[in-house]
Amino acid sequence: MSKNLVVLGAGGLARQIVGVVDDIDDITLLGLTGEPDEHSLRNDTPLLGGDEVLKTLDTAYVIGVANLLVRRKLEEYATAAGREPATVVHPTARVEKRVSIGPGGVVMPAAQVQEAVELDRHVLVDANVLVCHEAVVGSHVTISPRAVVGARSTIGDGTTIGMGAVVLPDVTVGEEAVIGAGAVVTKHVPAQTTVVGVPARVLR
Ligand SMILES: CC(C)(COP(=O)(O)OP(=O)(O)OC[C@H]1O[C@@H](n2cnc3c(N)ncnc32)[C@H](O)[C@@H]1OP(=O)(O)O)[C@@H](O)C(=O)NCCC(=O)NCCS
Repeated sequence: MSKNLVVLGAGGLARQIVGVVDDIDDITLLGLTGEPDEHSLRNDTPLLGGDEVLKTLDTAYVIGVANLLVRRKLEEYATAAGREPATVVHPTARVEKRVSIGPGGVVMPAAQVQEAVELDRHVLVDANVLVCHEAVVGSHVTISPRAVVGARSTIGDGTTIGMGAVVLPDVTVGEEAVIGAGAVVTKHVPAQTTVVGVPARVLR
């Protein structure tokens, strides 16, 4: 049976998730929430209004906003409204055996998630990402396009990994860290630290 879905947000990430959902047969997309921007107006997906529509619609949801604080607030709001997060995996993504994808997880086209990876709640695995075997990824982590998360590495809750960045195997990244685009992370990154470059160095 087809499952109803609302994407929370109306910006670029939300529209990208709409494109993913369009390719999944057993999800019926009801629409987006939030304020339209100039680009939203080019998208024909219904804008349902504010997040309060979650209280009235019989639907699952995923979060389509990149900002970490907003993501966490939206999860709290949706939970209080009695809504369950969906898990959205594009048909071209390769998810190997014994992978666990937490509620609210979104896996974009051509991503690969290898054997025994654990993705906590509301993890975004963007297009062409590779998450290698036995990596453990915390809640609300965003892994941007073409990034690679090495085998057995641990990514703390709320961390953002930029486009094309590489986290080497067995490395731990703390909570709410930011890994710059193209960085190569060779050693532990403390919580709430931004690193950039090859090898990655602390920016702040
Ligand atoms: C790391 C990052 C968060 C820093 O953003 P910021 O705080 O706005 O940093 P700034 O642009 O002010 O740059 C600060 C310095 O870091 C350097 N820098 C910024 N990003 C860098 C990167 N990815 N790699 C190497 N150096 C970088 C800048 O050149 C600048 O150096 P300078 O002081 O010598 O001129 C950001 O540049 C980044 O890489 N974000 C990832 C974006 C992404 O992948 N988004 C996903 C979209 S799908």
